[in-house]
Amino acid sequence: MGLFTTPIKTLDDLFLHTLKDIYYAEHQITKALPNMIEKTTNPSLRDEFSHHLQETHEQIRRLEQVFGLLNEQASGVTCEAIDGIIAEAKQVISDVGDPKVLDAAMASSAQAVEHYEISRYGTLIALAKQLGHTNVVGPLKATLDEEKAADRKLTELSETQINRQAA
Ligand SMILES: [Fe+2]
Ligand SMILES: [Fe+2]
Repeated sequence: MGLFTTPIKTLDDLFLHTLKDIYYAEHQITKALPNMIEKTTNPSLRDEFSHHLQETHEQIRRLEQVFGLLNEQASGVTCEAIDGIIAEAKQVISDVGDPKVLDAAMASSAQAVEHYEISRYGTLIALAKQLGHTNVVGPLKATLDEEKAADRKLTELSETQINRQAA
């Protein structure tokens, strides 16, 4: 996965670049989540992370389907934004001693990831529609819905359990 791809000249180039960006990001997320599953002491948060890890594997498969529908080879480009979010999450995880505060910190970091993904899939859907790639809107929308649901679930867990237990 390279940092620099072919120059982005057209909206189609931008669409493909964004697709490669999120393909890279989803792979990084599958590498980051197992550590968070291991570190959390909250069973509901662990279930949510585990559930979302499974979804993320399926999202990668879905992206490969999208590349295929566009007659493109599935490949990634380094996404410095997700690398930064994950690096920051790792830093916070290593800095927090209290396990309950750590749960709150991990839920917070996970929501930063979800919001990044929501913005990317939102853009991809808008570009796909504009470019007439109507056949890929369905799979992109399916993933967007999962990212939004994960974000909502993390808000709910934070408000009902995690933040209270950490306070
Ligand atoms: Fe994802
Ligand atoms: Fe996600």
